[in-house]
Amino acid sequence: MRAAISLLVLLLSMCGVQTESHGTDVSTQNVSAELRELRDMVMVLRSDNVAMKTEVDNLKKENAAQEAELTALKTILAANQTEVENLVKEIKAAPKVAFSAGLTNSGYTEAGSSELNLVFSNVITNVGEAYSSTTGFFTAPVRGVYYLRFTVRDNLSSHYMFIIMHKNGKQLMKLHEYDTDREPSYLSSGLTLQLEKGDTVNMVLPAGKRIYDDASNYSTFSGFLLFPL
Ligand SMILES: *[C@@H]1O[C@H](CO)[C@@H](O)[C@H](O)[C@H]1NC(C)=O
Ligand SMILES: *[C@@H]1O[C@H](CO)[C@@H](O)[C@H](O)[C@H]1NC(C)=O
Ligand SMILES: *[C@@H]1O[C@H](CO)[C@@H](O)[C@H](O)[C@H]1NC(C)=O
Ligand SMILES: *[C@@H]1O[C@H](CO)[C@@H](O)[C@H](O)[C@H]1NC(C)=O
Repeated sequence: MRAAISLLVLLLSMCGVQTESHGTDVSTQNVSAELRELRDMVMVLRSDNVAMKTEVDNLKKENAAQEAELTALKTILAANQTEVENLVKEIKAAPKVAFSAGLTNSGYTEAGSSELNLVFSNVITNVGEAYSSTTGFFTAPVRGVYYLRFTVRDNLSSHYMFIIMHKNGKQLMKLHEYDTDREPSYLSSGLTLQLEKGDTVNMVLPAGKRIYDDASNYSTFSGFLLFPL
């Protein structure tokens, strides 16, 4: 725009010179022609200016959209950071529970006239101390989903082997096996259990039944927390 004005001033001053040195008619014609030229130029500049304004407007809009996107991304990032921090806290705070224990080193364990609560006294692992090797009870330290399993053995010669899993003193599973060959037989199983804090799980031998273990960990009780609820 400034260039156009300078040009106009220059042209007008040139016309002034021409007016003095040549006739008025010729100069007026020349001025008209040049003014037309100038007008055309101004028109072109104006349309250029409109196009530039549109472009600037578009760029501003684009910029605003990008800023909005950035703000949205920042919000997501902040939420994600909080979420990650919470997850880390949760993982660190989650109780760690896992145990395995062998029954005994002393051969046969036999139930008398009533059922016998089995105490697996050879602790192999007891992270979280949720299993008691003095009572034989596993006690859930938190509400959650746990997996509890066992293996028991006897050398069967025409008799039955039985094993029961109790939850809170009530039978949850009872397995049996019969064999005649005097060779070792095993009963082994496990359950995924949803337990409340304080719920107990223990293994029981029915009245008159027996199982066998020595230092070899033939008969074991194991469990672990899958995840808290
Ligand atoms: C004025 O216009 C005439 C005719 O177009 C041209 O011959 C002449 O050279 C012009 N004069 C100047 C000073 O430009
Ligand atoms: C991060 O945010 C996105 C979008 O809200 C979401 O889908 C994703 O689950 C979040 N991730 C975490 C770890 O919070
Ligand atoms: C049971 O089996 C073990 C090893 O296989 C053996 O040492 C033990 O003597 C057996 N007990 C009986 C009563 O057969
Ligand atoms: C049985 O477990 C105990 C740990 O309580 C271990 O010392 C022993 O070696 C295990 N026995 C066998 C035969 O693996």
